[in-house]
Amino acid sequence: MTDADPVVAARTRVVLGVGGGIAAYKAAELLRLLSESGHDVTVVPTRAALRFVGAPTWEALSGKPVTAEVWDDVADVPHVRLGQQADLVVVAPATADLLARAAAGLADDLLANVLLTARCPVVMAPAMHTEMWDHPATRANVATLRERGVLVLDPGVGRLTGKDTGPGRLPEAAQIFEACRAVLARRDGDLAGRTVVVSAGGTREHLDPVRFLGNRSSGKQGYALAASAVARGARVVLVSANVSLPDPAGATVVRARSAEDLRVAVLDASRDADAVVMAAAVADFRPASTVEHKIKKDDSGSVPAPIVLERTADVLAELVARRDREALAQVVVGFAAETGDSEGSVLDHGRAKLARKGCDLLVVNEVGDSRGFEVDENEAVILGSDGSSTVVPRASKTAVADAVWDAVVPLLRP
Ligand code: CTP
Repeated sequence: MTDADPVVAARTRVVLGVGGGIAAYKAAELLRLLSESGHDVTVVPTRAALRFVGAPTWEALSGKPVTAEVWDDVADVPHVRLGQQADLVVVAPATADLLARAAAGLADDLLANVLLTARCPVVMAPAMHTEMWDHPATRANVATLRERGVLVLDPGVGRLTGKDTGPGRLPEAAQIFEACRAVLARRDGDLAGRTVVVSAGGTREHLDPVRFLGNRSSGKQGYALAASAVARGARVVLVSANVSLPDPAGATVVRARSAEDLRVAVLDASRDADAVVMAAAVADFRPASTVEHKIKKDDSGSVPAPIVLERTADVLAELVARRDREALAQVVVGFAAETGDSEGSVLDHGRAKLARKGCDLLVVNEVGDSRGFEVDENEAVILGSDGSSTVVPRASKTAVADAVWDAVVPLLRP
C-alpha cells in the first residue's frame, strides 16, 4: 500500500518515538496497542534506543523500515515529512536526555527533527532514575515542554533498573495508550460546532486614573481554557481582564477592565453559548466613587478619607439566574480559589460555594504564595452539582484546561 491509498490516508498517523532507556522494550507493547486499534504507526527510535531494542523488532512489529538517522531515505525528506504528516507523536520512554533535547529544540537525530516539525499533539512518557527526574534541569525541561502544550505524563513510582525504587518508572503501556486516545479524541473536535465563552484575568476597580484595587490573577488558566477549546473545535469568545499574554490563536478576544465591563461583556457574548467558564477573578467590591484626576497628597501631612467600598454584581450568579429563567441549555462553570481556614477545608468551602452559586461545575484550587497565581502549573478538584468530584493532579494549566472541558463535554445538550 502507498500513502495515496485512501484506506491508509484515513487512518490516524502516529509516530512512536522511542528513547534510549531500559524501558524501550515496553514501547513494543504500546506499538501493538496503537496498531491493533487501527492506527498507522511509524517507529522512530533514537540511536541509544536501538542499542536496547534493535531495528528488526520495530520493523517486524510495525511493518515499516526503521531508522534513527536523518541520512536514510533522504529523497523522501523524512526528517520533515514524518512530523508534518503526523496526527500524534508519542514518545515512550522519554529519557532525561531526550526531554532536554526536545526542550532545547535540537535536531540531532530523526526523532528530534520529528519533534521540531510536528504541529500535532505530542505525548511524552518519561522514564529515568529518580535522581534524574528530580534534577532541576529535568524539572525545568518538563515545565518548558508542558508550557508549550506537550503532554508530559508523570512517571510511575516503583522498582527501577537495579535495586532502587521511586518515581521514574515508565507509565504502563495501557496508561500511555489511554492518554493518546484521549488526546486524539480532543483533536477530533469534541467541541466542534459549540460556542463557549471564557473569562480570564483579574478585574481592576479604579480609585483614580492611576490607582486601582486589583488582584493577582495572571489570566494563564483562562487563556489555557480558551486555547484548549479552540483546539477542540469550539468557537471561543475570551473576555480578558487586564492580561498581558498573547491572544490565543483562533479565539475572539473582548477586553474588559472593571467587574462591570466584564459583566456586560460576558452576559452579552454568552446568551447563545453552549458553555460559559468564569475563570476570571472578579472583584467583589469597588470604590463607591472614582476620582477623575490623580489623587494628590498635600504638604499638611493629612491622609485622604478612608476608601468607601460598594458591592459589584456577581456575574456567575447572574449567568445561572438567566439560564434558569430563560431555560437556556447552557453549562455554567465557576472557579474558586480557596484557602482552608478554621471554618473548613478548601473542599468544604468549594462544596458550599457550588451550592450557593448554583453552577454546574466548580473548579476549586488551593491558592497560596506559590500556588495558583502567576505560575504555569495548577492542581484542582472539579466539583459537579451532581455530587461528582474529579481530582486533577498538579499539571500544566493546559492539562487542567483539558480536564475542565472533559467535564463540560458530557453535560452539553445533545
Ligand atoms: N465571580 C463573579 N462575579 C463576582 C465575583 C466572582 O462572577 N463579582 C465568579 C468568579 O469568576 C468565579 C466564582 O464567581 O468563577 C467564584 O469566585 P469567588 O471570588 O471565589 O466567589 P465569591 O462569591 O466572591 O466568594 P468569596 O466570598 O469566597 O470571595
